Amino acid sequence: MVQLRTVHAHNAAIFQSRPIVAVFAGATAGIGEATLRALAAAHGTTGKGLRVYIVGRKREAFQRIVSDCTRLCPAGQFNFILSPDLSLLTNVDKACAEITKAEQENAKGEQARIDILCMSQGDFNLNGYQETKEGIEWRYSLLYHSRMKFVVNLLPLLRGSDFPAHVISVFGAGKEGDLHLDDLSLRGTKVRGLTNVRSHTAYLHTFFMEYLAAQNPGKLSLVHVYPGLVMTPAFKNPGVPIWFKAIWTVITPVTKLLTTSPAEAGERILFLASPLRFPAQGATEQSTATKGGDFEVGVAKGSDGKVGSGAYAVEISGEAVENEKAGYGKYRKEGVGEKLVAYTLKAFEVIRSGKVFTE
Ligand SMILES: NC(=O)c1ccc[n+]([C@@H]2O[C@H](COP(=O)([O-])OP(=O)(O)OC[C@H]3O[C@@H](n4cnc5c(N)ncnc54)[C@H](OP(=O)(O)O)[C@@H]3O)[C@@H](O)[C@H]2O)c1
Repeated sequence: MVQLRTVHAHNAAIFQSRPIVAVFAGATAGIGEATLRALAAAHGTTGKGLRVYIVGRKREAFQRIVSDCTRLCPAGQFNFILSPDLSLLTNVDKACAEITKAEQENAKGEQARIDILCMSQGDFNLNGYQETKEGIEWRYSLLYHSRMKFVVNLLPLLRGSDFPAHVISVFGAGKEGDLHLDDLSLRGTKVRGLTNVRSHTAYLHTFFMEYLAAQNPGKLSLVHVYPGLVMTPAFKNPGVPIWFKAIWTVITPVTKLLTTSPAEAGERILFLASPLRFPAQGATEQSTATKGGDFEVGVAKGSDGKVGSGAYAVEISGEAVENEKAGYGKYRKEGVGEKLVAYTLKAFEVIRSGKVFTE
């Protein structure tokens, strides 16, 4: 477990030592909001420049959060990119096009870039199976397809960073269960449901992030993380049944003692953008510890088991998840990773061409 004081010292040192350009999806509430606040606080009043693009549905939430962030980081530039529903990949495309245009203008002749892309869009919702008009189960799309589409669309800007660029996706690393290779979209009535969405989202994140890390050596570090239980508004979402909300309200005083606070979660998620602990693949010149300072962080083990391999599956503690039972060794030998990457790219291509994805 990386100690919170180490995380704190690291964040304060790293994120104010250089100008940062960051993109957030899902930061109008919850863990994303807390991570954005942590970034503004770390950059503070003495940082070298902070420019942030926040993609979301609620402008009022953005304004409230940004007025706090501006107090923490007066020189920060916070831009809102309105997008009504990120479970639709066409909306992700539009948001990315807007970010790209705005960043090219805001860079003012310097290298347009993104140093941190943090995604936590999700909707804790116990309603049943429903496909988007593009043909993907909507929660699954929000948690996996939309997030990887952000990365693929923003690759030119991510590759413009010499931080290197860090991609963070907050959901369910280590929560692998069944993998339905003959129904990757989870359409069959027997495989529908949140448990399988969670499992597939974990497997697909791991394999697609490893693919992107290998395609972008030295340029891109990717982390997916299971945050544990964090007390956010997620448990009071409209799609949560009344019985659940009632139980939740009663047990909140006790669960608060057992969970990670949003503020700590924000600090710890921001830490996942550490070039010291989570370097891009092949960034071997990165030392295994910082030189001097109040903190020392070793390089993390990648999801393929190799230290510093550029794609990471971690707990909120900053340690690699233990998922020996997930069968990655066997799946790698059988070429399953390639199959999952091909599935993802095909979904992107079909939807981009205006058709409904039916695979
Ligand atoms: N909190 C936990 O204990 C916990 C545990 C395990 C995993 N997770 C996962 O971690 C992620 C973040 O959780 P959280 O607790 O921060 O959730 P949250 O408080 O509900 O925040 C979710 C964010 O996603 C946005 N969002 C939801 N649906 C969207 C849509 N269709 N289009 C665009 N944006 C949308 C929300 O926007 P609005 O502000 O507009 O609603 C909000 O900004 C989720 O994927 C969640 O499943 C959380």
